[in-house]
Amino acid sequence: MAKKIFITGGTTGIGWELAKAYARCGYDVGVCGRDISKLPMGYEIDFPSVKAYSVDVTDAPALIAAVDEFAPAGLDIIIANAGIGVGSKKRDPNFEAQRKVFAINVGGVINAFEAAYHKMFEKKSGHLVAIASVAGFVGLPGNGAYSGSKSAVIKMCESMQLDLKGTGLDVTCVCPGFIDTPLTQKNDHPMPFLMPAEKGAMLIKNAIDAKTKLFIFPWPMRIIMTVMDKMPRCLYRFIMGFQFANYSKE
Ligand SMILES: NC(=O)c1ccc[n+]([C@@H]2O[C@H](COP(=O)([O-])OP(=O)(O)OC[C@H]3O[C@@H](n4cnc5c(N)ncnc54)[C@H](OP(=O)(O)O)[C@@H]3O)[C@@H](O)[C@H]2O)c1
Repeated sequence: MAKKIFITGGTTGIGWELAKAYARCGYDVGVCGRDISKLPMGYEIDFPSVKAYSVDVTDAPALIAAVDEFAPAGLDIIIANAGIGVGSKKRDPNFEAQRKVFAINVGGVINAFEAAYHKMFEKKSGHLVAIASVAGFVGLPGNGAYSGSKSAVIKMCESMQLDLKGTGLDVTCVCPGFIDTPLTQKNDHPMPFLMPAEKGAMLIKNAIDAKTKLFIFPWPMRIIMTVMDKMPRCLYRFIMGFQFANYSKE
């Protein structure tokens, strides 16, 4: 019987590239998004093993129902990938947007893991994967909620790796740098080491196959973010203040 993987936010960008990669490897693939018409036209014909669900990851019962319908006997892998970014150059925080970012980027990961966990635990096998970001290692200006939400996901996965040791379940946290997707196509700032989504998905799949605990890529970004994470915070504030001096003070 084919292995089963469910990918939240699998209708565009990194999620869709992962869906195609797993379908090509013989998996049955469930994907969800709020608007499944974002999937490429004719995907059912090109990828008959992909099944799409119109589900918002902040709606835990709906996500659990979709995963249960897709895989009544449980999943082999879940990728909690759905995420949004709401950057701003304004001084005043957009609290409504911040709540939404946390609800999707953190709440959505919790809901996805819950949808997969219980049957995986019964089977003593399964792989929980979360897509965080290199942004989770530092507090980026104008992106507090995004950085904070991804930081939460990184630490949640680190804890779960300890908690689930010996259960047969694996936990992988993926921290991409800039990947060329609809999320980043709206950015108006430089994106060093920008990578095509297909290549990013291939690297992520390899890391999942290898059961890597924490995968930070591409490697130059891994070095930069590690240095920025470890440097004295006064130095970090000085560098970032200089870099982002043109931010609006409205
Ligand atoms: N691209 C990058 O450079 C980059 C770097 C680091 C990390 N990431 C992370 O990688 C993940 C995928 O990002 P991407 O770049 O591929 O973005 P994307 O192309 O915008 O895709 C996001 C996916 O998530 C879905 N989604 C968003 N909110 C949702 C919700 N409430 N419920 C269900 N689905 C939802 C979207 O579909 P709907 O809008 O129709 O719901 C879409 O399928 C995100 O977690 C992002 O933070 C991306």
